[in-house]
Amino acid sequence: MKSILITGGAGFIGSHVVRCFVRKYPHLRIVNLDKLTYAGNLANLFDVEKEPNYEFIKADIVDAEAISEIFRQYQFDAVIHLAAESHVDRSISNPMEFIFTNIVGTVNLLNAAREIWQNPEGKRFYHISTDEVYGSLGETGLFLESTAYDPRSPYSASKASSDHLVRAYHHTYKLPVVISNCSNNYGSFQFPEKLIPLSINNIRQNKPIPIYGKGENIRDWLYVEDHASAIDLIFHEGKDGETYNIGGNNEWTNIHLIRALCRVMDKKLDRPTGDSEKLITFVKDRAGHDLRYAIDSSKLQKELGWQPSLQFEEGLEKTVEWYLSNESWMNNITSGEYQKYYDTQYNKR
Ligand code: NAD
Ligand code: TYD
Repeated sequence: MKSILITGGAGFIGSHVVRCFVRKYPHLRIVNLDKLTYAGNLANLFDVEKEPNYEFIKADIVDAEAISEIFRQYQFDAVIHLAAESHVDRSISNPMEFIFTNIVGTVNLLNAAREIWQNPEGKRFYHISTDEVYGSLGETGLFLESTAYDPRSPYSASKASSDHLVRAYHHTYKLPVVISNCSNNYGSFQFPEKLIPLSINNIRQNKPIPIYGKGENIRDWLYVEDHASAIDLIFHEGKDGETYNIGGNNEWTNIHLIRALCRVMDKKLDRPTGDSEKLITFVKDRAGHDLRYAIDSSKLQKELGWQPSLQFEEGLEKTVEWYLSNESWMNNITSGEYQKYYDTQYNKR
C-alpha cells in the first residue's frame, strides 16, 4: 500500500484534503501529521478518523530528528505539505513562530524526503502555498505563475521563503516537487480568526463585525472543497517542478463581502433585512495591509482541466448553514485561549 503524508491535516484546508483523499483513494494509506496548535483540531476529521486507510501522528515539523525518524519508519511515497502558521495578524505580532514552522519546518520535511528518496522515481513532494507571496496588486492585473515574488507580511515572507527552498531542492538535489499558490479559502472548519467565520460568529452573537480600515481591500475567494479538488488534480497530474496558481476568479472588497454575508445571515437567522449590517464596525487598519489579491488560474484550467464547482453565493450559503448547524464546534474553539487572543487583538483596535 502506498503511503501519502499530509502535514497540517487537522487544520482548515488540510482536513478537507485528508477527507477527500481518505474517501477517494481507499488503496492509499493517508497519514496525517499535525502538531495540533491552536489551529489544529481533530474534531475536523471526526467522520474519517476510523477509516482503515487513515492514521494520525502528533508531531512538530520543526523537530528535525522526530521528522526524519517518522520518514524512515513510514517510507512515505509522497508528501502533501500544508502545515503552517497561517494568520497574517498573528505573524505581525509574533513573526518567529512563522519562521520556525513555515521555513525551518518545510526544510526539515525536504531533508527527510531527500534522505529516504534515494531513487526519486514515482515520488512527489507537493508544497501548498498562497497567492500572498506575489505581494499586493493595484486596481488592475492578476497574479500569474511568472509574477515576481514581493511578499509584504511576515506570513507571506515566510511562505515565499519556503516556496524558494522547495524550488531550490528541486534544482539542486532533483527532488521531485510541485507547488501551488492559492487565493483566500472559505468554507466549513475554518478557524474563526479569519474574516468569514469570525464575522459569522460575531453576527450570530450580535457582536460588532470588525472591518479593518475602510473595508476597501480586495480578496479573491475560493470554496475550500474546490481548493481540495485542485490539490487532488495537481497531486496526480501536475508536472514535476511546476507551479500552479489556484483561484476562484471571485474578487470582493471586504465591505461588499460582509454586506452579502449579513444578508445571508439575516435570512438564515430569520432577522429583519438590514439587522446584521448594523453590527459592521470600522476598526484600525492592519499594519501593511495588502490592497488586492487576484489570481489568474488559466494554466491550471487549460493544462489540467480544473474548474471551481460553486458560485460564490451558493458557497456562502452553504458555509453559513454549516456554521449555524455546528455551533458546538464553534463554541468549543472560541472558549478558553482563543477568547484571550480575540480580546487583545480587537480591544486595542
Ligand atoms: P490552518 O491554520 O487552519 O491549519 C494549519 C495546520 O497546521 C493546523 O492543523 C496546525 O496544527 C498545523 N501546524 C502548525 N504548525 C505546525 C507544526 N510546527 N508542526 C506540525 N503541524 C503544524 O491553516 P489553513 O488555512 O488550513 O492553511 C493550510 C495551508 O494552506 C497553509 O500552508 C497555508 O499557507 C496555505 N493556504 C491557506 C489559504 C487560506 O485561505 N487559508 C490560502 C492559500 C494557501
Ligand atoms: P483574513 O481572513 O485574515 O485573510 P488574509 O489576511 O490572509 O487575506 O482577512 C481577509 C481580509 O479581511 C483582509 O483584507 C483583512 C480583512 N479583515 C478584516 O477586515 N477584519 C477582520 O477581523 C479580519 C480577521 C480580517
